[in-house]
Parts: sequence; C-alpha cells; structure tokens
Amino acid sequence: MRALIQDRYGPAEAVRVGDVPEPVPADGEVLIRVRAASLNGSDRENLVGSPFYARLGGLRRPRNPVPGSDVAGVVAAAGSAVTEYAVGDEVFGELAGYRGGLAEYVATPPRLLARKPPGLSFLDAAAIPQAGCIAFKSTRGIAPGDRVLVNGAGGAGGALVIGLAVHLGAEVTAVDRADKADYLRRVGASDTIAFEDEDWAARRGRYDRVVDLVGHRSPFRVHRALRPGGVYLMVGGHARVLLATFAAGWSIRREGKRVKVLAVPQSRADLEAVTALVVAEKAAPAVDRVYPLEEAREAFARLAAGDNRGKIVIEMP
Ligand SMILES: NC(=O)c1ccc[n+]([C@@H]2O[C@H](COP(=O)([O-])OP(=O)(O)OC[C@H]3O[C@@H](n4cnc5c(N)ncnc54)[C@H](OP(=O)(O)O)[C@@H]3O)[C@@H](O)[C@H]2O)c1
Repeated sequence: MRALIQDRYGPAEAVRVGDVPEPVPADGEVLIRVRAASLNGSDRENLVGSPFYARLGGLRRPRNPVPGSDVAGVVAAAGSAVTEYAVGDEVFGELAGYRGGLAEYVATPPRLLARKPPGLSFLDAAAIPQAGCIAFKSTRGIAPGDRVLVNGAGGAGGALVIGLAVHLGAEVTAVDRADKADYLRRVGASDTIAFEDEDWAARRGRYDRVVDLVGHRSPFRVHRALRPGGVYLMVGGHARVLLATFAAGWSIRREGKRVKVLAVPQSRADLEAVTALVVAEKAAPAVDRVYPLEEAREAFARLAAGDNRGKIVIEMP
C-alpha cells in the first residue's frame, strides 16, 4: 500500500512516499481504509524528534515508520474480538501511539474511534481528533464574559480552542506570528498579539484563562497575566518548561490563581462531545490546505515551516 515513510528524525526531507506492507489487524483491532488524515503540532515534533517525548516511539528512529495520528476512514476488516464496529462503518479518531495514519490502511484498537457523523466529510472529520480534544478540555469551565488568551493560536489546534471559547461566551485574545493575525480574527479572536512584537505575559492581571499551546515561559512569570482566580493551562511547549510548570505549579496559589500542565489523554468521549459542537456549527477546525498523499512531504514542509493557518489535511488515493 502507499504510505508516507519516515526512516529518521529530521526536516521534511526525512519523509517520503513509498510502498509498505498492508497491516493485518490483530483479533482486537480494526483495519481502517483511511480516507483522510490531518497533521498536528505533535506530527512536527515527531518529525524532528524533539522534545524528548517525541522519541518515546523510537530513540534513534521511529519504530513505526508511518507518521500521522488523526484519521477518518471506513472499516475494511475487523478482528474476531471486535464487537463495536463492522466492515463498512465510517469512523474517525486519534490513533493510539500517534503514528500509522498517513497510509492507505491502518490497523488500530477501536477504543479511541468514534462513528463519523453522516453530515461530516472525511476531510473535516480527520481535522478534529487531537485538536478537538485539546480544545474541549482546555476550554471546559469557561464562563460568559471571561477573558481568554490562547498562545500559539495560529497552528493546528488554535482555531477550535478559540471557537469553543467564543461559543462559551469568552472574549479571546490570540497570540501568534504577526502574519497570522487576520486569520486569527476570522476564526473568532477579538484581539491579537504578534509574539515577535509583544510579550503577552507582561499584560498584568488581564486574563481569566490562558491556554498555552507553545509554553516557554517560567510558571512564576505567566501567573502575573492572570486575574485573581484565573488559570494558566500549559498544553504544549518546551520540555524544560513543561517539567517546571508541572513541578512548581502547585506552589503558585496567590489570589486563587492556578498554573498547571493540562494533560489531554486520547478520549473517545471528548472526541464525540467536541464533534457534536462542530456538527452544530458552534466551532470549526479551520482547514488550511488539503494535499494528496503523494504530496505529503510538501505538506510536512509547510507544517515544519509553520506556514499553516489551522489544519493541514492529507487525502488518501
Ligand atoms: N497536553 C497534552 O496532553 C497534549 C496532547 C496532545 C498534544 N499536545 C501538544 O499540544 C501542542 C498542540 O499545539 P498545535 O497542534 O496547535 O501546535 P502547532 O500546530 O505547532 O501550532 C503552534 C503555533 O504556535 C506558533 N508559535 C511558535 N512560537 C510561538 C511563540 N513564541 N509564541 C506564540 N506562538 C508561537 C506557531 O507558529 P510557527 O509555526 O510559525 O512557529 C504555530 O502557529 C503540541 O505541542 C502538542 O505536542 C499536548
């Protein structure tokens, strides 16, 4: 079958389209005929092999050479122990192990998969899983009138975070490159900050919630941007800062402020909940560009350069 193949960690040149054996599903797995897959910031991390957790799937090279975690497709075969899905079912979700999706077929345990709503295209469904679960968890508890800042909002996950926050009644400030400001306003931000020009953390006492997709500031610094009772959630970013935020966050409790790392486990329930909101047009994953599988290296080059505004989707042959 055709697949994107990654033999080493490195720039976009580390991936190429080629042929690999079709996977055979185990008893507890389904085989999905992939119709579309999408890229996340985590695929960029898995491409270059950094931060350290991106090498959990192989220290020197990825053990599973096929990248791609978010897929939508049709069940082509089901192992003997699978009871919840049958051949022909349309499904989507994030793959356990975060790899294998950029191929014509992938075998995976069905526990993370959800049924694709009939009105949702495969391309749109593939754009939801990881970004949707991040958005769903990081916006939980936002109240009408809250001031929310989303740092790193112009990449794969930001549009859904902004969209859900606005849906919950928040006023959203989005931070990213200056040339992504128009895009960020289009997906719902009422204010933007260009990170090259301004340090959002210097805006003292402003936000009820900060969702940080690219955290690189000390936990002792970010809390100053919070209003009393506000919360800073570090979703992604530098490994060193992740560890510091995890270790020190509990000690930052002044004025009811909280600073913490937000773990977003892969979750079918969260995927179904956020997808219901997408179907009801309360929020949308912004699709940046759609590439055919044969041009997946170009898609990775765009992702690696950070030129995408929202989700890059790969359509399978
Ligand atoms: N907590 C969990 O359990 C969990 C689960 C899944 C994923 N994650 C993580 O969550 C993150 C997901 O984010 P994503 O997929 O939306 O990432 P993404 O597509 O890489 O987007 C990040 C955005 O931030 C921008 N950016 C870079 N440096 C910045 C800076 N200094 N200030 C502000 N913005 C900056 C990037 O621009 P450029 O591209 O121009 O650099 C890009 O537009 C990833 O790090 C992933 O590993 C966490």
